[in-house]
Amino acid sequence: MLSRRELAVKLEQVAGFDEPRLELEQYTTTPEIAASIIHEASLRDDLGRQVVDLGSGTGMLAIGAALDGARGVCAVEMDHQAIAIAVANARHLGVRIDWVIGDVRNLPLCVDQPVTVIMNPPFGAQLTHRGADRAFLRATASIAAVSYSIHNAGSRSFIEAFVDDHDGVVTHAFEVDLELPRQHDFHRVPKKQQQAEVYRIEWG
Ligand SMILES: C[S@@+](CC[C@H](N)C(=O)[O-])C[C@H]1O[C@@H](n2cnc3c(N)ncnc32)[C@H](O)[C@@H]1O
Repeated sequence: MLSRRELAVKLEQVAGFDEPRLELEQYTTTPEIAASIIHEASLRDDLGRQVVDLGSGTGMLAIGAALDGARGVCAVEMDHQAIAIAVANARHLGVRIDWVIGDVRNLPLCVDQPVTVIMNPPFGAQLTHRGADRAFLRATASIAAVSYSIHNAGSRSFIEAFVDDHDGVVTHAFEVDLELPRQHDFHRVPKKQQQAEVYRIEWG
């Protein structure tokens, strides 16, 4: 197992999106946040299961899990360009991941044992993708024993109600500051900090 710092340093090498798509809320989780989540999962033995990254983008979380010794890692992403960058990132860092091009809302996976899901889903902020976070949680509930996910600040009551409806329990929650780079013309400042929350959930 790598230290959190060692993992973050390796993850600095993960390249981000070339042309991020606004409607898919494409931005990269910072290496520090990714390393914190994966390190936590490792300490709790949650990497001993197959790991699935939903909405894997350029691979930050999937690659982090593989670097930290996950039993096996599979990643689902609907954007071909993002997957192409992710494949190159994984090759560069010397890890093996099963990449699946598909839509999480209609999960193209069949798992034979409950998995650990690690994801930074779209918050569902874009008009065309309202409720995207709910669709990602629904997919997670269908395959996961445990999940780690990043959500908009203030999501706690929504998450707890959703998890309760699926006989699960939120076991841990902590706050993180996402760093959203300037990717679109209407963003006036180069980087924007956005408060977010990470949840560890055990699913029923
Ligand atoms: C906030 S980004 C996170 C990317 C990456 N997991 C990370 O942590 O750096 C959300 C990702 O979800 C993908 N995505 C959005 N909707 C999706 C869907 N319905 N099915 C699959 N992927 C989707 C986007 O293309 C984007 O790569």
